[in-house]
Amino acid sequence: MLVRSIAAIFTAMSCSFPLPAISDEANSAELFAKIAPVFQSPRCMNCHTVTTFPKQGNDRHRHSMNVARGRDGHGVVGLTCSACHQRENQLASGVPGADEDWRLAPLSMGWENLSVGDLCRRLLDPSRNGGRTGAGVVDHLSTNLVRWAWAPGSSIASGPRTVPPLEYEDFVHAADEWIKTGSRCPD
Ligand code: HEC
Ligand code: HEC
Repeated sequence: MLVRSIAAIFTAMSCSFPLPAISDEANSAELFAKIAPVFQSPRCMNCHTVTTFPKQGNDRHRHSMNVARGRDGHGVVGLTCSACHQRENQLASGVPGADEDWRLAPLSMGWENLSVGDLCRRLLDPSRNGGRTGAGVVDHLSTNLVRWAWAPGSSIASGPRTVPPLEYEDFVHAADEWIKTGSRCPD
C-alpha cells in the first residue's frame, strides 16, 4: 500500500513538473555556449593559433625567442619545443610542461578569431579536427595537454598563470552533455 502511494506521488510529480527535455536542441547549443569560454581561454588558445608561432601569456603575445611552428608543430630544427618544454612545469625557468609531447595544435585546429558558433562547428568538423567524432572530441579532453591548462604553473615574468573559467570536471561533464544532447551549435 505504502509502496503504491509513493509510486502514485512520483507519477503525479512527474506529470505536474516535467523534467526539461534534455534532448532539446536549444539546450545543447546552450551547453556549448557554457563551455566556449574554456576553449577561448589563453591557456588553450596559445597553442591553438592560426599563426606560424605559438603565443604566451594572457595578452597572447608572440612566443619569445622567435620560436616557430615548423612543419608539424614541434618547432624547427635547432629550436624544437622539447628542447625547452619538459614533461612537467619547470619551477626555476617558468617553462610549462605536461606529460605529453608539447607541440602546437595543427593549423586546421587553430581557433583564433572565430565566433562561438563557428568555433563549435569547427570543433565538430572531421576535416579539421583530426577525423574525430563528437565523442572523440570529448575523449580528447582527458589528455594531458588539455589537463595542463588547470595546473599551468607560473611564469617568471608575470607570475602564476590563470586557469580556464570553469572547473575541469564541470567542463568535461558539460562537453559530454553537449554531444549527448545532439552536438548543436549556437547561431
Ligand atoms: C601545448 C599545446 C596545447 C595546449 C595548451 C592545448 N592544446 Fe588542444 N591540441 C594540441 C594538439 C597538438 C592537438 C592535436 C592532437 C591530435 O590531433 O592528436 C590538440 C587538439 C585538441 C582538440 C581536438 C581537435 C579538435 O579540433 O576538436 C581539442 C578538442 C583540444 N585540443 C582542446 C583543447 C583545450 C580545451 C585546451 C585548453 C583547456 C587545449 N586543447 C590546450 C595542443 C594543445
Ligand atoms: C628556447 C626555449 C623554448 C622553446 C624552444 C619553446 N618554448 Fe614555449 N616557452 C618557453 C618559456 C620560457 C615559456 C614561459 C614564458 C612565460 O610564461 O613567461 C614558454 C611558454 C610557452 C607557452 C605559453 C603558455 C601560456 O599559456 O602562457 C606555449 C603555448 C608554448 N611555450 C609553446 C611552445 C611551442 C609549441 C614550442 C615549439 C614550437 C615552444 N613553446 C618552444 C620556452 C621555450
